[in-house]
Amino acid sequence: MPEADLYCVMGDPVAHSKSPRIHTLFAAQTGQAIRYEARRVPAGQLAGALRAFRAEGGRGCNITVPLKEEAFRLADHPTGRVLQARAANTLWFRDGIHADNTDGIGLLRDLRQNLGWEVGGMRLLILGAGGAVRGILGPLLEQGPELVVIANRTVRRARELAGEFAACGPVDACGFEALAGRRFDLVINGTSASLGGELPPLPEGLLAEGARCYDLMYAARPTPFLAWAAQWGAATSDGLGMLVEQAAESFCIWRGVRPDTAPVIALLRREMGG
Ligand SMILES: NC(=O)c1ccc[n+]([C@@H]2O[C@H](COP(=O)([O-])OP(=O)(O)OC[C@H]3O[C@@H](n4cnc5c(N)ncnc54)[C@H](OP(=O)(O)O)[C@@H]3O)[C@@H](O)[C@H]2O)c1
Repeated sequence: MPEADLYCVMGDPVAHSKSPRIHTLFAAQTGQAIRYEARRVPAGQLAGALRAFRAEGGRGCNITVPLKEEAFRLADHPTGRVLQARAANTLWFRDGIHADNTDGIGLLRDLRQNLGWEVGGMRLLILGAGGAVRGILGPLLEQGPELVVIANRTVRRARELAGEFAACGPVDACGFEALAGRRFDLVINGTSASLGGELPPLPEGLLAEGARCYDLMYAARPTPFLAWAAQWGAATSDGLGMLVEQAAESFCIWRGVRPDTAPVIALLRREMGG
């Protein structure tokens, strides 16, 4: 057996991350010899943690909350996706630090290939304006939606994000109260409200006929947002598929092999009891 190459996920908190499980399943499926750990790295400490990890022979890592923007600033060789998002979730080391952002492509693979939901031509509403939305906005706009509205509790953050991405497509920003009277075909919840069992204040009549609702968060039971959407008759999905798809893209960058995601999504779903 060749010695296993070392990878990890860095973030804070990170103890409950599913990334070690996902990458271990990918490695077993593809016959790749890798070891994958979770390492708690508080904000502001990524540079030192990466130096130590590389000294141990670490080959690459995933980056999660709250370090994605810090990872962008440390990158010597960012991809176009990282430059656009100004945030990175996948690093590897060769003549310096290479960085990519696979969140957007992960979401698109889940929406289009796993769920059969198209974005092109749709009226798209994105709730939230944090790090996750920053990663998915560019790839969503590239699909050619009719329009994208970013609604956020702190309207200034939504406006800043819309301004940054204005050159990529028709993108607008507002607060939740300004959604009254508007209708959307696809609503993506990129807030962390579901984590606290909360629902952003959404008006009646927000969903067009046949609308679809996606929560970036995943859980065994429907999140408050997905329960709200189902009550209005929308098709729904949580973000477990996106999590596995963004991991598959990282794995492919590191190992040059694309794992089959469907059995991994199904297994994790069973393990979550959902
Ligand atoms: N499935 C996946 O692969 C994947 C990948 C990345 C992230 N995620 C999930 O995406 C979510 C967002 O992550 P993030 O990194 O973007 O977090 P973040 O940078 O901390 O941003 C949080 C966002 O949620 C909003 N928010 C928080 N509490 C709220 C509430 N009670 N009501 C309304 N809005 C609220 C914030 O609004 P303000 O600006 O007003 O504070 C902000 O827009 C998390 O649930 C995370 O688990 C999933």
